[in-house]
Amino acid sequence: MSTSKTNSYKIAVVPGDGIGREVMDATLDVLNTLDIDFEYVYGEAGDECLEKNGTALPNETLDMIRDSDACLFGAAGETAADVIVKIRQEMKMFANLRPVKAYPNTNSLFNNIDFMIVRENTEGMYIADEESYTDEGAIARRIITRKAEERIIRYAFEYAKQNNKTKVTAVHKANVLKKTDGLFKEIFYEVAKDYPDIATEDFYVDATAMYLITQPESFEVVVTTNLFGDILSDEGAGLVGGLGLIPSANIGEEGALFEPVHGSAPDIAGQNKANPIAMMLSSIMMLRYLGENTAADKFEAAILKVLNDANTLTGDLGGSASTTELAEAVKNNL
Ligand code: NAI
Ligand code: MG
Repeated sequence: MSTSKTNSYKIAVVPGDGIGREVMDATLDVLNTLDIDFEYVYGEAGDECLEKNGTALPNETLDMIRDSDACLFGAAGETAADVIVKIRQEMKMFANLRPVKAYPNTNSLFNNIDFMIVRENTEGMYIADEESYTDEGAIARRIITRKAEERIIRYAFEYAKQNNKTKVTAVHKANVLKKTDGLFKEIFYEVAKDYPDIATEDFYVDATAMYLITQPESFEVVVTTNLFGDILSDEGAGLVGGLGLIPSANIGEEGALFEPVHGSAPDIAGQNKANPIAMMLSSIMMLRYLGENTAADKFEAAILKVLNDANTLTGDLGGSASTTELAEAVKNNL
């Protein structure tokens, strides 16, 4: 007999293309066994949606995301930029979160890495405000506003506080970009005053690129501007090895979206071979965002056991299990 579940949430589910659908099914399969009431609304987006509806991102899907407590996104194919970049803009998703965490039986270069990269998602170099070419060359503008940088820095400190992290590291290049990154660094230490229990440090981005390799265990929360965050996140992904394992979150004022970093993987799509762990870990980030930390811990421990047991790993992790077999194993561990 089923008892009524405690909390209930409306989740916009956008599986997208290729393995996006397979890893989404596997993840929902596990989420449904948790003691939480999810109401799913399904939205279309991506290559097949474009073919069918003449648009890769219908307004109905955007509205669905807007009206939900959170969105789970699988992956899009060739239309990924039109879909995901547009959703981020429309929903004003100012924070991009990429955890860098080492799991057992993976290609992680180190065992003891566990930090979060908090990347500003709306300005910096990626406003892509470039003047047209002249004979002399081209110019790009980089915008740093007090409002956006204070918002992302405060988000990083709040994240640290809520997740029992003891230190936040700011990453910049204020020795060269004295005005823009000088301001970023200044705001960092202003905001830090509101969090006296959290230690602070700041590094230049080039040094950070090295420290991520030489002392990755020393990082807890890293906060940085848009371009630097993009580059360091991919370095972080390389550190812990394997696209099949890397989740991400986009957080904004009007909504939050959780997605694996990988794409639609046409080379293995439709074969029940994709590793669903990146999507599952993305849904765990969603659970934490919703305040469902107990369920998140339980789900993550079940994945950890699958990795430790190493009996039902997918091909990318050196095993021969299918997507559905891995999901089944996670469910059995809950
Ligand atoms: P991809 O991430 O789809 O695949 C790269 C390689 O990693 C492939 O060999 C693939 O089989 C493997 N791989 C990825 N995820 C995996 C998983 N969960 N389990 C096992 N193996 C996995 O990137 P690619 O090949 O550059 O792009 C393919 C399509 O995906 C393109 O159309 C691209 O535009 C789109 N894409 C979409 C993204 C999104 O929706 N956020 C992000 C990146 C790419
Ligand atoms: Mg990138």
